[in-house]
Amino acid sequence: MENDYILVRQTSQLQGSVRVSGAKNSVLKLMAASILIPGVTRLSNVPDIADVRLMQQVLEALGVEVSWPASDSVQMDATNLTSHKAPYELVVRMRASTAVLGPLAARAGAATVALPGGCAIGARKVDMHISGLEALGAQCKIEHGYIEVAVPETGLQGAEVMLEFPSVGATENLIMAAVGAQGTTVIINAAREPEIADLIDFLISAGVTIKGRGTTRLEIEGVQTSKLTTEVEHKVVGDRIEAGTFLVAGALVGGPITVEGFNPEHLAVVLKKLREAGAELEINTDSATITREGAIKATTIQTLPYPGFPTDMQAQFMALMSVAEGASVITENVYENRFMFADEIARMGADIRIEGHHALVKGVAQLSGAPVVSPDLRGGAALVLAGLVANGETQIAGVHHIDRGYEQFCEKLRSLGARIERFS
Ligand code: UD1
Repeated sequence: MENDYILVRQTSQLQGSVRVSGAKNSVLKLMAASILIPGVTRLSNVPDIADVRLMQQVLEALGVEVSWPASDSVQMDATNLTSHKAPYELVVRMRASTAVLGPLAARAGAATVALPGGCAIGARKVDMHISGLEALGAQCKIEHGYIEVAVPETGLQGAEVMLEFPSVGATENLIMAAVGAQGTTVIINAAREPEIADLIDFLISAGVTIKGRGTTRLEIEGVQTSKLTTEVEHKVVGDRIEAGTFLVAGALVGGPITVEGFNPEHLAVVLKKLREAGAELEINTDSATITREGAIKATTIQTLPYPGFPTDMQAQFMALMSVAEGASVITENVYENRFMFADEIARMGADIRIEGHHALVKGVAQLSGAPVVSPDLRGGAALVLAGLVANGETQIAGVHHIDRGYEQFCEKLRSLGARIERFS
């Protein structure tokens, strides 16, 4: 809700355990991939977040029947597609809607998807999505604010595609388009985020042959989508970014808190950096426990494609570094403009200087509670974390950003002992 706000009071202790939901960045692509399946796709471990509800609307606009058999599972029946157009009103609200481009091209032979347009965190272009589809033989043009993809009568043809940058979205769109191409598609310099591996697992269980899972070179054997399995079930991988967010809360306040429901290997660099920052971690196969007794220490980070430090954890780490002993440098390499959070946390007394894509964070002894506004999804979550250690009260507006990607964020933090409330 646009006018909701969150009130956080300084919290002296967090303890207990919290379970993360399925990954936002995986479920959205899996839902898009259901377009390829000439039958029913059932996903479990689905987070009930605003972006999932938006993707549901995008799919419904295409004729996919979407239902929720349980609160954490969603079912898509894509037997009959009735449209290949993803309308502007939906795409403009969620860039990930562009994930329907590849599967629509493969299954329907055409896709008309609104250009996502400007975004608070940088230009976020779709050039690599388009050139990748063109390499497979699709004709693409941009007209009246829409990307129009047309597949020739002869169909998509497998090809070798080299990405200039390991874009997550372009890799996923290409994988899904390649499923409907004739012959083999090879993607070189592919992104290898765990959510991409999750998409590959899903497609393999639907009957696609894909080699190179988890590597930068993927080989996809095209099949006619009509030959894919007509009933596919899949459990969404745990959300490593949600897990990282709670772990930073533990590092800020102290812990011990246990975060469950994710694979700690997916967060290896973040865990390493949390240790450098003075936290102690105990790692299990699907959980991690964090405690911190000594001071928070300054640590330098730079964001990079996986397995590097995730850009989606940058703001949360900036909140941690803003109360560290000493100065740290945070370098953002994935987006050209993702430091809006710095201006907001400065209102709480943080000392941050931005120069180009570097942020120099000088730790302060104490943040002070203030009214602030979520600049975006992760920045909003990071403001909540900062509020836990700021004296007095922090009032965070723009909660709809947080709702896009965190399920029950306040409730989960409150279950750990956070003094947090949400108001409408
Ligand atoms: C995905 C994630 C997002 C995360 C990002 C990077 C989802 C729904 N979102 O976004 O949370 O922050 O990966 O890990 O999964 N670019 C181009 N041309 C293109 C495509 C991308 O220039 O055709 C640029 C973008 O402007 C951006 C960078 O590449 O600066 C990374 O984008 P990309 O990896 O594609 O991220 P998304 O898939 O949009």
